[in-house]
Order: sequence, then C-alpha cells, then structure tokens
Amino acid sequence: MNIPYLDLKKVTALHAEKIQQAMAEVVGSGWYLQGQALQQFEQHYAQYIGTKYCVGLANGLDALTLTLRAYMEMGRLNEGDEVLVPANTFIATVLSITENRLTPVFIDVDEETLDLNLHVLEQTVTAKTKALMLVHLYGRCTYNGSIQDFCKANDLLLIEDNAQAHGCLYLSSYAPHGHLSTVTCQQSTLPRTGSLGDAACHSFYPGKNLGALGDGGAVTTNDEDFAQILRSLANYGFSEKYVASYKGRNSRLDDIQAAVLDVKLKHLDAENQRRQAIARTYYKYIKNNAIRLPQLMDNGNNVYHIFPIFTSQRDRLKQYLLERGIGTLIHYPIPPHLQSCYPEYHHLSLPVTERLAREELSLPLNPTMTDEEVMYVIKTLNSQQI
Ligand SMILES: Cc1ncc(COP(=O)(O)O)c(C=O)c1O
Repeated sequence: MNIPYLDLKKVTALHAEKIQQAMAEVVGSGWYLQGQALQQFEQHYAQYIGTKYCVGLANGLDALTLTLRAYMEMGRLNEGDEVLVPANTFIATVLSITENRLTPVFIDVDEETLDLNLHVLEQTVTAKTKALMLVHLYGRCTYNGSIQDFCKANDLLLIEDNAQAHGCLYLSSYAPHGHLSTVTCQQSTLPRTGSLGDAACHSFYPGKNLGALGDGGAVTTNDEDFAQILRSLANYGFSEKYVASYKGRNSRLDDIQAAVLDVKLKHLDAENQRRQAIARTYYKYIKNNAIRLPQLMDNGNNVYHIFPIFTSQRDRLKQYLLERGIGTLIHYPIPPHLQSCYPEYHHLSLPVTERLAREELSLPLNPTMTDEEVMYVIKTLNSQQI
C-alpha cells in the first residue's frame, strides 16, 4: 500500500465539481477582491464559528500579526508588553508577537495533557503581561473555564490561534481518561473554538481541515471596533478609499479563495466526523509499548488536524513506516525558542516541548483515507518492535 501523509489532489477531488463551479462564477463576475464571494464566506464563517464578525485575510500568520497590531492601535497592547504563548507551537504564533515588538513568554506545556498548566501561568504572569495566546494545536481544544478566569483576573487579552482546529467544540466537561462519548462536531449548539476569547486567528493553508487552494486566513471576533481596525489594517490602513488612518498593509483574502472555502465549509463537519472516526480506530487498535498516544479527549473536543504519536525511536519509526509505504510528518522538529532566528531564547529550558520535538511523529489522518488504509497503518505500527 502507498499512503502519503496527505494527498491534496484527493482532498480537492471530494468537492471538485462544486469548487470549479464556484470559481467559474467568480471569474465571470469580474470581482476578484472584496466582492460578494468574500462577503458571503465571511458571513457564513462567522455564523459557523459563532461570532458576530469575520475578517478574511491573506493567511494565518497575518491573522495573528494583524490581530496584535490592531490591539496596539487600540492602546490595549504596547511595545515591550509580554504575551504568554505555549512553547509547543508552530513558529507563526511566535513570529506574530516578535514582529509587533512584543515579548513572547514561552510556557512549557504539561507533560500529560499537552495543555498549558494554570499553576505555571499563575507563576509566570507579571505586571507587564497583557495577553495570552491559546493555540489549539493538533486540532484539540485547549481552552477551559480556568483559562478564562485567569485572563479575567489578570486583565489579559485572550487570543486563540485556531489555525489547526476549525470546527472543534468546547465541551466544558470532557472525559480525559480513556472514555469516548458520542458527542461529535455536528452538535453545533455547543461553542466552537474561535469564539472563546477576544479574537481568534484562522489559517486556510491548503492542508488545514478547512483549506483553500492557496493561502488564506481570517479573524473571528465579537468586537466591532477591533474588527473594523483589523479590516482597515489589512487594506493599506484605509478607513475609506484612499484615506489612510493607519500604516497598514495589503493582506486580503481574495474572492476565488473565499468561494472555494464557502463550498468546503458546508462539508467541514462531516469531514471532521470522518477524522474523529479514524482517530477512534487509532486509539482503539494501536498497541505498541514503545509508542505513546496523546491523552484521549472527548471526541467532539478534537478535530484531529494532526494525529501525533510519541516515541524515543521517532526517526527509526519514521523510516520503518516510509519503507512500508506510509508517509508521516513531524510537527515540529525545532521548537520556536530554539530556531536560529531567535538566539535570544536559546538559553531557555523548556524540557517537555523539547522532548516533544524529539519524539513527535504525525500519522496520516484525513477524510480521504479508507478503512483499509487506516487498518494497514495500525497493523504496520503494531508489528514494529522498537
Ligand atoms: C498553529 C498555527 N498557527 C499559525 C499558522 C500560520 O498559518 P499560515 O500558514 O496560513 O500563515 C499555522 C499554519 O500554518 C499553524 O499551524
């Protein structure tokens, strides 16, 4: 068998006809930026996430960067302010902080839950701390009521990085100890990630659960002033045409991508359910003492953008799987604080994050996978003595 980590051609083929039709409509309309397709997608996505506003942007990094910038324009953040951020994240989360001359304060994640530990947050917060970036990494909701209480008590902005968790639910009481309930992401009366903080940043990079056919991003929020400033920042800083209130940039979601996303949004819940079913099978049948699986969450709390496993023999296992036709990825081999662009943070010791970077391996998991492919991955993993 040959199971690539992700075959985007297959992903697109799931809805090819509708996508092509939607693209053709935009082509024929003559409106390629800030047109009706964008407006419609923004409306639908805000509704889906459960916020009043959605601002389409060029990509997820810009969504994060411009969110912080908008709060600076509003006087909610100032140069040098500290922003708490999980150390175990994709580098874009951190780039958005340093680009704005804010100071990232890396928080190591809890070994068992992979979440931020409230006790550590409380020990780290200072008078200079003004925001917390919450990253729903791997597609897992990492929000809980005590995070909200902590932000309120310390007057912090709560910003979600929802790049990996489109459609994920927040279940206030989840079952972390090996129990799978029947709650699925279709039960949309429950709040979704992306609606839980002051603002949430989304990436529509092609490989994401909701992926464009190119770059794309968005911010969701209930704050009208913030949404307006953000929209203006992404459009040269214009408050009206040719009138610049801010030193902005050009970071818009184009109408062709918006039309594609609008088609795919209708299928997101069903595709997330397929991801959840595959994950359930992985949890049930992967049995190899050398491999650790992440703590099991209630299934609706996770849309499995990434299915990470952990082993001290990561590189050997990756090679073994490759030789048997199974593609894997590593998310991520170098944590942000150890990247060569951040020598000022190399002295930090964040042992859990550093270990995850050495031991993480992502198994293929996407809605195009067949049951046979899933079982082949499991059988291959279980028969490996490492
Ligand atoms: C957690 C996280 N944050 C931010 C981003 C940045 O998004 P983009 O690639 O659209 O710039 C990504 C994905 O690429 C991500 O996974």
